[in-house]
Amino acid sequence: MSALNRSIALAGAGAIGIPILRALLNHPNHPKVVVLTRPGSKKDLPSDLSLATVIPVDYTDVAALTALFKEHNIEVVISTVPPPGYVTAQHALADAAKASGSVKLFVPSEWGVPTEGAKGEGNLFGVKDEVAEYLKSIGLPYTRIFTGLFTSFIPWVIGADAESSAYIQGTGKTPFTTTSEEDIGGFVAHVLTSLPLTSPDLVNASLRIQGQKITLQECARLLNKSIVLVAEGESIPAKTDGEKHLKAFLQTQMEGGMASTGWDRRSNREIEGAAGSANKLWEGHVWQTVASSFA
Ligand SMILES: NC(=O)c1ccc[n+]([C@@H]2O[C@H](COP(=O)([O-])OP(=O)(O)OC[C@H]3O[C@@H](n4cnc5c(N)ncnc54)[C@H](OP(=O)(O)O)[C@@H]3O)[C@@H](O)[C@H]2O)c1
Repeated sequence: MSALNRSIALAGAGAIGIPILRALLNHPNHPKVVVLTRPGSKKDLPSDLSLATVIPVDYTDVAALTALFKEHNIEVVISTVPPPGYVTAQHALADAAKASGSVKLFVPSEWGVPTEGAKGEGNLFGVKDEVAEYLKSIGLPYTRIFTGLFTSFIPWVIGADAESSAYIQGTGKTPFTTTSEEDIGGFVAHVLTSLPLTSPDLVNASLRIQGQKITLQECARLLNKSIVLVAEGESIPAKTDGEKHLKAFLQTQMEGGMASTGWDRRSNREIEGAAGSANKLWEGHVWQTVASSFA
């Protein structure tokens, strides 16, 4: 079957779902896209995406999801559901994808650091790895896409979105991967509408993309923020305690090298050449940098 007019279901259109949706709808291969939304949710898409097909569906209703995938002949399911929905919503989406007979590929809600081997860590990365294990266990072909930190989230992680300083825990000198949301969307749209869905580049593959390798200290300088070094456990400015803990957790991961898309949690080391190794699937693309994103 031609890659043109591929049918794709996108579960969740928020921080990363919207750039993915935008890239899909603007792609020259013209995929047919349906956006899934929870019943009762007020889904206000940006005005340039207002013509997208949005279908309310209960993520706990596997039969309803299966019928939806069959009716729209969905070939690819892309999940961008956030943490509260990682397990319940994604297991239901996966079960329905498997039962539909039409879905050939499932893209789980990774969109961050490499999580292979994180199962059992008791954190959000562990849960993402467990979802991938579930996809394996039901024999549903999947593609995991690792991106590092979204570029627009860098000021938030160092508390520099609301403050004149950047709050860095540890040295802030360990390089990590960042990729802009626009590039993530473009990459997803490119590989999922251009490659055969049976391609070994996609089937049960982990794609490690990278816009740029950079340190938090370099980011602070690019953002013109003075640096405040904070000890582990000291506060990084945040709106809630939950955010504070998340920022501290993410900075610990970054300091330890785990936020590079070349990192392997199973061997606890950087694999040479792995960071950005999937960039080659989007030949000729010029990836955005932190400097170009915040210019
Ligand atoms: N690497 C990074 O820097 C970074 C940053 C942020 C997020 N992420 C990752 O990106 C993924 C998506 O995060 P996001 O921030 O884009 O998500 P989000 O914007 O918080 O949510 C996306 C959409 O999912 C739906 N949703 C909300 N709660 C749900 C639930 N419990 N069950 C099912 N659907 C739910 C909502 O749509 P409806 O209301 O229409 O149903 C929402 O608009 C996650 O895996 C997250 O870890 C990575």
